[in-house]
This record gives sequence, C-alpha cells and structure tokens, in this order.
Amino acid sequence: MNSVTVRVPAKVNLQLAVGPLRDDGYHDLVNVFHAVSIFDEVTATAATGMSVRVEGESADQVPEDGDNLAIRAALALAGHAGRPYGVNLLIRKSIPVAGGMAGGSADAAAALVACNELWGLGLPREDLMEIAADLGSDVPFALLGGTAIGTGRGERLTSLDVAGTFHWVFALADGGLSTAAVYAECDRLRQASGELVAWPQAAEALLAALREGDAEALGAQLGNDLQPAAVALRGSLAHTLDAGREQGALGSLVSGSGPTCAFLARSAAHAGELAAGLKDAGVARDVITAHGPVPGPAVV
Ligand code: C5P
Repeated sequence: MNSVTVRVPAKVNLQLAVGPLRDDGYHDLVNVFHAVSIFDEVTATAATGMSVRVEGESADQVPEDGDNLAIRAALALAGHAGRPYGVNLLIRKSIPVAGGMAGGSADAAAALVACNELWGLGLPREDLMEIAADLGSDVPFALLGGTAIGTGRGERLTSLDVAGTFHWVFALADGGLSTAAVYAECDRLRQASGELVAWPQAAEALLAALREGDAEALGAQLGNDLQPAAVALRGSLAHTLDAGREQGALGSLVSGSGPTCAFLARSAAHAGELAAGLKDAGVARDVITAHGPVPGPAVV
C-alpha cells in the first residue's frame, strides 16, 4: 500500500463543565463531545522522512513543521512501533483552524489511523487511544467519534446513546483563539469574581435529551463554562450568539474554546433558514450547516 486517505469529523461540545485548575496546569472537566459532519481529509503516503502539507480552509494558519499535531502523531506512532517509519501527510482542511472544533486533534487522529494502516501495524484502537491522550486532551475523542462524555482532562471517554440526528449551524469567525489563553482567561475571571469552582457534573437533563433525540430539550441544556472567557477575549461573539437566538435557534453556545459559535436547529430545513439569516445579519466570516452525531475517522 502506497497511500491511505482518512476522513475525520469536527466536534462541538454540548456541555463543557470546567472544574478547578489542577497542579499539572489542566482542568478536570465534564466534556460532552459530539462529532459533526464537517470533515478534514488526511492522506498518508509512504516516504523516507516525515513531512506535512496543508491545503484548504485557512491552511496558511496551520504549521507545516514539527509543531503540526498530525506529524507529532505520526512520530509518536513510529516511536510506539519502535521503527524509523516515514510518511508524507497531506491535510485537506474544512474544519476551522483554532476554531474550538478540534480540527488539529482531528488531523492527529486521522494521521494515527492512516499511518497504522499505511505501515501495516494493525494496532487496535485502544493502543491508538493511549498515544492520542499524550498528544492532546481532545485527540482521544477525535479517534472515537459519535457522542461521548469525557472526564479527567477530557481524555477518559464513555460513548453515549443518542436517538436520531441533530441539525446544527456554525458561525465561523475571523482568526482563531488559543485554547490555553481561553482557559487562562476563565481562571482569571473566576478569581476576580471570587466564585467558588464546583466539581464538574454531567447535566442529567442533557443526557436524557440526547437519549430521547429531543432537540428542544437539548437546546435548553447546552452549556459551556469557557464561553464567558471566549466572549471576554472576543467581544463580537456576544453579537453572534444574540443573532442566533433572535433568529430562533433552539440553543446557542461557543464551541469549545471558540471562536466558532454553534446553533441548534429543529430540522435540516430550519438549519438552512437559520444559516441564511445569520449570513444576512453579517455576524460571521462564514456560516455552515452540519449534522451530528457522525462516526469517527474512517479510511476512504
Ligand atoms: O490538551 P491540549 O494540549 O489540547 O490543551 C491545550 C491547553 O488547554 C492546555 O495547555 C491547557 O492550558 C488547556 N486545557 C486545560 N484543561 C483541560 C484541557 C486543556 O486547562 N482539561
């Protein structure tokens, strides 16, 4: 086999409950991940060294050196296998870069699946999961797909039962936000307000809404503890979120650490109308529709 292509979805967080800052600089979370139908594609081609090239949506903002998370994933996999494997990675991006939709994590997960296949390693997903957790808190979910609850720093996952399909609209912003900066702003805001930080808990009503496929109930339960920090760093997000609510979204929130905003619609048709309304309101660089949950990375 000379070349393997893997398609991998983006995620939105349906609930992101952020606990106290830990000694290791991370936060304990309850993180309900939901994979949605916005896909990057990663093609791994046999080579002697390691290299990566990025094309598509905001490709110029993605590093093409050793900082690239997909190359770090390939290196970690070769290290795990104990062999000096090489690969050329080509990443075709549709997932917004630094947008709070785990695009970098998705590319890393896709690189693990593609190189596992290309190099004929035949490692089970559990082994890839362990490598994934070392690469970043969101990489294990990017390997799993569907809908899942993550605890710890988000890497300890349990898949959730979901009935039916939910329809989403995503408002993309100009430029990204640094995840570390948004967590730091969250800590700063909490310290300034003197707020006692509770241990993060899963919202039972949200899990029930997922099990029952009840979009209205899910919309009412969406929540993200990072949202005040993302809005503090990017004031324009408040207008974007307001516009979605005014246009009849069942629920709206900042996706992960932002700046992408997510809006839940009643149906595919409603998502189309909501997207058109948000485009007309001029509150986003681009507006796209998607559905979830979708499966994790797959060889195409
Ligand atoms: O794990 P990852 O490298 O993706 O995390 C990026 C940054 O986000 C971390 O360096 C940390 O500042 C923050 N983070 C956190 N708590 C988590 C996950 C991420 O504080 N559970």
